[in-house]
Amino acid sequence: MSALSSKHLLGIKDISKEDIQLIFKTAENFKEVINRPIKKVPSLRDITIANIFFENSTRTKISFELAEKRLSADIVNFNSGTSSVNKGETLVDTVNNILAMKVDMVVMRHPAPGAAKFLSRHIDANIINAGDGTHEHPTQALLDAYTLNEKLGSLKDKKILIVGDIIHSRVALSNIYCLQKLGAHVRVCGPPNLIPKYIESLGVEVNYNLEESLAWCDAANLLRIQLERQDDKYFPSLREYSLQYGINQEVLDRINKDIIIMHPGPINRGVEITSQVADSNQSVILNQVENGVAIRMAILYLLTSN
Ligand code: CP
Repeated sequence: MSALSSKHLLGIKDISKEDIQLIFKTAENFKEVINRPIKKVPSLRDITIANIFFENSTRTKISFELAEKRLSADIVNFNSGTSSVNKGETLVDTVNNILAMKVDMVVMRHPAPGAAKFLSRHIDANIINAGDGTHEHPTQALLDAYTLNEKLGSLKDKKILIVGDIIHSRVALSNIYCLQKLGAHVRVCGPPNLIPKYIESLGVEVNYNLEESLAWCDAANLLRIQLERQDDKYFPSLREYSLQYGINQEVLDRINKDIIIMHPGPINRGVEITSQVADSNQSVILNQVENGVAIRMAILYLLTSN
């Protein structure tokens, strides 16, 4: 198999285990390319890609841009803050205007869950979801699983813990789908009102005790508290959250097990993770960022060959 089963990457829920394995195999080749002195290949020389971001981003936006440049694509960047969206233009009109300038592919981040899927029903170009509200963040899940694969080998029967603000997290949902498709067991841990009631119906374990959960897992993926998505108060204070669910060296010493520490970023140092843990040898946070470029190169390449 040398093509993805779908024309778009809208979410991990919609793709197969074989798609994920093809993305990983292709990313491995591109990881070799980006570590060469000359990091560029001509694969997407005739392709124009629009990066359309309606929400803030550092990692995802830069990573996509670098991936596109490494593949020799032409790129245009759209920032909603300085666009005619502020004059009342709809999402479909905005994107159709960009496509009229002969754009082949759209990478989009949007605050509304389902925005990428909605767009895919209205335009012909390939669409990659770079995060749609609290729904999915497929490229983050793929780079997370790829990083775990590098460290742990096959993820079959590996135990992966996701800690923190599960209810507001697109990273959590995409990770759950991806890890389960690769055969891993997933557990979530956090304050009860930050864990959605439906999560167990996805085959995910729930446990509210951090130390017990850390002792159970092979790797822990720590999530940021998404204050920008919280209208209500879900816990008394960040200090209290940090005392109960923050990962520090003391708790890792107590469990006395060499687990892998992951974080999709951006990190709130001193809240969900201490600087000592974030910068330790157990942390693979910067490996995740490095792998993000190779994973995104693989997805762009495979979608354009589709
Ligand atoms: N992990 C992630 O999506 O980071 P950004 O919001 O900076 O893109």
